[in-house]
Amino acid sequence: MSAAGSGLALRLREATAAQHRQAERSPFMAALIGGSADRRSYQQLLHNLLPIYAALEPLLQTHRGHAWLAPVWAPALARLPALGNDIAELQRLAPSDLGPPLPASVHYAQRLNGLMLDTTSRDTAMARLLGHAYVRYLGDLSGGQVLRRVVARQLDLSGASGTAFYDFGAPDQAAALLQRWRESLAALPAEGALADAAVQEACWSFDQHLRLFNALEAFMPPQGITPR
Ligand code: HEM
Repeated sequence: MSAAGSGLALRLREATAAQHRQAERSPFMAALIGGSADRRSYQQLLHNLLPIYAALEPLLQTHRGHAWLAPVWAPALARLPALGNDIAELQRLAPSDLGPPLPASVHYAQRLNGLMLDTTSRDTAMARLLGHAYVRYLGDLSGGQVLRRVVARQLDLSGASGTAFYDFGAPDQAAALLQRWRESLAALPAEGALADAAVQEACWSFDQHLRLFNALEAFMPPQGITPR
């Protein structure tokens, strides 16, 4: 059986498959992957991912020794510095008032920070954190790699300029990180309270992403206008 076809890997994939399809097909994501986003909407996506990663990554760093995080976390996953650089670079190319992050993004960051307030079970908090990391990093390492090429071409961004967020280093590095994730998830239990917590949180994460993508539609270029 493949790594994606066993353990927690299989359970997470099956539990979130319908939401993944919804996310892919959401008007905002469909426009991005279909090459009809513009700089403003892409900038807004990054701007609204920033609070999420700013909450997620310090937690992962702090708790990287925990049994549920140690197998999946790698320093090469860290997206926060690249995200900040991309936003700064896009602002340099096309300055715009980004405004405050959207409520869906702020709420997401609050949820992450709130996980640590659950002092009844540290293990449960860690399993929930894994659920969030699964949604973000497997997305960045999978569909994100396709998105990167489309966005760079569409928005005329050369090299890693503006798309470093999706850059995981040497060409086979993203595949290697993905493989490690899959194998590690396959080795974690698919049943029990901790697995349930991880799956529940991954489903929450997808739902919240959908809310964010719906809100981001407001920044999409009007139809019929050639974007850039
Ligand atoms: C246009 C948008 C997207 C495309 C084209 C896309 C595409 C893909 C592809 C090709 C895979 C690999 C599937 C496999 O290995 O069999 C994947 C996996 C994944 N994607 Fe996406 N994706 C998109 C959006 C998203 C979004 C927005 C999220 C998160 C919010 C996300 C999260 C994930 C996750 C968690 C996986 C791993 C699934 C598993 O457990 O195998 N994706 N995606």
